[in-house]
Amino acid sequence: MSLPICTYGNPILRQKAIEVMSVNDDVRALAKEMFATMYAEQGVGLAAEQVGRTERMFVVDIPAEGDMGEDGQRENPGVEMPLVFINPKIVGHTDDVQVGPEGCLSFPEIFANVERWYEVDAEYIDLDGLPRTIHAKGLLSRAIQHELDHLDGILLVDRMSHVKKVALGGKLKRLVKETKKALG
Ligand code: NI
Repeated sequence: MSLPICTYGNPILRQKAIEVMSVNDDVRALAKEMFATMYAEQGVGLAAEQVGRTERMFVVDIPAEGDMGEDGQRENPGVEMPLVFINPKIVGHTDDVQVGPEGCLSFPEIFANVERWYEVDAEYIDLDGLPRTIHAKGLLSRAIQHELDHLDGILLVDRMSHVKKVALGGKLKRLVKETKKALG
C-alpha cells in the first residue's frame, strides 16, 4: 500500500531518525510500504521520515539507465537493486565531488544542483538483519547521501546554493503553506 508523502513544512522532516533495534515484521512491512510509495511517486529513493516514520532507514532503486556514467558504462555494475538501508553510515568517501541536479519527493517539482561526493563507502543492515557494506558511485552515491541527510533532518533546501534558495523562495513558501494547511 502506498503511503502519503510528508512534504516540506512537515516538522517530522526535521527530526533525527531513531536507530532500528531489531529487523522485525514491522520493519519489513514498512520497507514494503516505502517501496510501494516510492514507485507510485516515481522516485529513486525514499527515507522513512518522508512517510511520517522515525525509523533510521531508507530505500533506493536506481534504474539501469540512471546508473550510466559519462563514458556510457554502468557505474555500479555489481550492485543489485532495489536496496534497503537500515541504520546506514557513510564510512568513507573519495575527495572528488560531483555537482548534479537533485529532486526530492518532499519537494514536488523542485530541482536544484547539489554537490555530493562522487564515491562513498557505506555500512548498513539489510532486511535480513545482516551487516552489509557498499561502495557506491554516481547517482547511487548521490542517493545514499541524500537519503542519509533525511535521517538527520537535513533537506534539499539546506544543500542548495543561497542564490537558488532565493530564486525558489516563492515556490518554497507556497509549499510550506500547502503542507501546513493539509496538516490542519
Ligand atoms: Ni528526499
